Amino acid sequence: MLTMKSGEKSESNTDSKISWRCTVCGFIFTGEKPPRGCPVCHSPSHEFIKGADRAQLTYDGKPFDVLLINGSTHRAGNTGYMADIAEEYLRERGVSYRRYNLGEYRIDPCWCCYAVRAESCTFPCRNKNDDAPAFHEMLAASKAVIIASPINWNCMSARLKIFLDRTTCLENLYHLKKPGLTEGKVAGILVCGHEDGAIKTSMDIWLNFQQLGYVLAPFAIAFRTHGSQFNSSTDREFFRNDELIVRQTKGVVNNVIELMRLDIESLLKEKLVPVTE
Ligand SMILES: Cc1cc2nc3c(=O)[nH]c(=O)nc-3n(C[C@H](O)[C@H](O)[C@H](O)COP(=O)(O)O)c2cc1C
Repeated sequence: MLTMKSGEKSESNTDSKISWRCTVCGFIFTGEKPPRGCPVCHSPSHEFIKGADRAQLTYDGKPFDVLLINGSTHRAGNTGYMADIAEEYLRERGVSYRRYNLGEYRIDPCWCCYAVRAESCTFPCRNKNDDAPAFHEMLAASKAVIIASPINWNCMSARLKIFLDRTTCLENLYHLKKPGLTEGKVAGILVCGHEDGAIKTSMDIWLNFQQLGYVLAPFAIAFRTHGSQFNSSTDREFFRNDELIVRQTKGVVNNVIELMRLDIESLLKEKLVPVTE
């Protein structure tokens, strides 16, 4: 039994100097390959990435079409699988995209400046210490988002909720009567769960983007659950052999692409009246 705290100590399997970090709990492992499973949180080996240290995320300013976000704690879990299908199909369709697994990035909880003084919450965000500013820039630069989330307690993941809270600096532009940076962009939503809460989770995510001026593509919500009669340890195998999850996910991606290609963002420019809470 290991007693180390996440990220504080490391284990080693050979003399090799490659460091591997468990993206779920922060445990550091040194060896030629990542361990077969994380000794601290029991995540499988594909949750490990190379490198003990993380550099702050920056956006290089190069334009691209779709921002694909896997909002799960697991970079390569069931939600990650939906994101994999989406990513593969974006590639197949020749769409420029960038994919991020939120578990690999640092997004601090919102400082909630807006709740103190409305004018203080604006773009760029006052918190420049984490990876959120780069995501804000990419939300503004991309033409569409596809957001994937697991269901956690009938809701999106806490990680994704924190990420979405941090979009307040973009939404607040409307309150401050400043030009918005996201209106007319297109959204698609992918949700993966075990049994219940998929529609609520999708709607919760959608409401956030709706208030940022996004347009939900037609048929752009796909969710897949396994079933309460099954143990979650069989979900992985189920999803990876499921044809419906592939069909549904590709459908969402297709519909996002088709609407995005109509470029309604340009057509609607300066024609919308922001109606937010
Ligand atoms: C904290 C927690 C809460 C969960 N709550 C729900 C839930 O309310 N409804 C549901 O269908 N599945 C729920 N699940 C199961 C996950 O949605 C499911 O295992 C999902 O496939 C995990 O995706 P991931 O591999 O990307 O983490 C929950 C899992 C966890 C860890």
